[in-house]
Amino acid sequence: MSGPVFPRPCRALIFDLDGVLTDTAHLHYRAWKRLADEIGVPFDERVNLRLKGVDRATSLEIILERATRGYGDAEKHALAERKNGYYRDAIAGFGRDDLFPGVPALLHAAREAGLRTALASASRNAPALLQRLGIAGDFDAVADPAKARPKPDPGLFLAAAAALGVAPGDCIGIEDAAAGIHAIKAAGMAAIGIGDPADLAEADAVLPAIGALRLEDFVSKT
Ligand code: BG6
Ligand code: MG
Repeated sequence: MSGPVFPRPCRALIFDLDGVLTDTAHLHYRAWKRLADEIGVPFDERVNLRLKGVDRATSLEIILERATRGYGDAEKHALAERKNGYYRDAIAGFGRDDLFPGVPALLHAAREAGLRTALASASRNAPALLQRLGIAGDFDAVADPAKARPKPDPGLFLAAAAALGVAPGDCIGIEDAAAGIHAIKAAGMAAIGIGDPADLAEADAVLPAIGALRLEDFVSKT
């Protein structure tokens, strides 16, 4: 019989970015919503739940499921670029104040506890956003979404663990998206969800916000 998942021995924390470290999830939504409105395709917060954590091209495919006409590859590429322009405009003024409360303290506590840290974000904008948020130096590794299959595939989390040289079973993944939680579990890691437990049923624990994460509740002393 297995006991409680947490606290557990752990050597590394692997973080998602959008919706976990900073409040960009709704900016992705607003950028997609603007695009969907412009092309007359119905899109709302409910459909958006399926986009969370999902890469740009797949997100567009999900939105276009409700389109009344087909779109060719060149058109799709242009639409995805347009959305990315809206999103980049939205994060242009981001700075350290846009981190969720508690993030700098958590990254500091992880370092103090001797844990390694990595980022596993599907966003091609992640490296630039980390720089703007002033936390690029707090991560030992940043997995490249261009080199891994998109979430819910575990590839990005496995790549992050490999870059750290830590076995997946010794990692805890932290995610706000159902697709990301699935990826973490498929990678053989323990998963902490950030958000609504009803949306993140696969997670081993769910917290309402990253600021509520106390390391000692999740990581046991070895
Ligand atoms: C994820 C977001 O982190 O990154 C998704 O949750 C987004 O909403 C995805 O679509 C890809 O981001 P980008 O910046 O490469 O378009
Ligand atoms: Mg996310």
